[in-house]
Amino acid sequence: MLLDYDLPKHHVNTRKALPKSIKETLLESTRSEWKKHPRFGGKANFFMNIHRDLLNGSAKMSLAIEELLDVPQSEVKGAVKSMNLLPFSRNLIGFAHHHHEIEDHGYFPQFALLYPELDRGLSLLDGDHKVLDAALDETQIALDNLKGGQVNRDHLAKLHAGGKALEKILNRHIWDEEEVIIPIFLRHG
Ligand SMILES: [Fe+2]
Ligand SMILES: [Fe+2]
Repeated sequence: MLLDYDLPKHHVNTRKALPKSIKETLLESTRSEWKKHPRFGGKANFFMNIHRDLLNGSAKMSLAIEELLDVPQSEVKGAVKSMNLLPFSRNLIGFAHHHHEIEDHGYFPQFALLYPELDRGLSLLDGDHKVLDAALDETQIALDNLKGGQVNRDHLAKLHAGGKALEKILNRHIWDEEEVIIPIFLRHG
């Protein structure tokens, strides 16, 4: 491990931004100017659209779970069905796992070869993916439990807290990941 991921300044649950030691290794670039770049229309835009889809999807899932908290217990299962919550969430969680896999096995190893100085940044993103993948799996298990016997308030409250936590770490990860990878896509198309 190139950095101690569990330090609060590194961990996606606790950090407020990319640490300075990683920021200073990034390619020179200004976020507000990305869209004007002649190569923005390629992979940069493609990845940013995927990221917006993931963020919008996780916000939508959290909101749906929040609405369930106001539904009488006997009507929860019917509400879950009419919201289409389970297929929607399964699709979103599968999409997020798939996206991380493509980054971990396709893009990040290539970036590491091209830009060895980014090793700490890429290592941080790799640590994020592990935390995110575990949070996605936990959310999937909690959602699957909605299909089983009686759904109680505690279960819904836990699912809601998990969904909000997932949304928060996804936002942190995606913002920081874009700081690392979008300048690379702008340079190479
Ligand atoms: Fe990503
Ligand atoms: Fe990622």
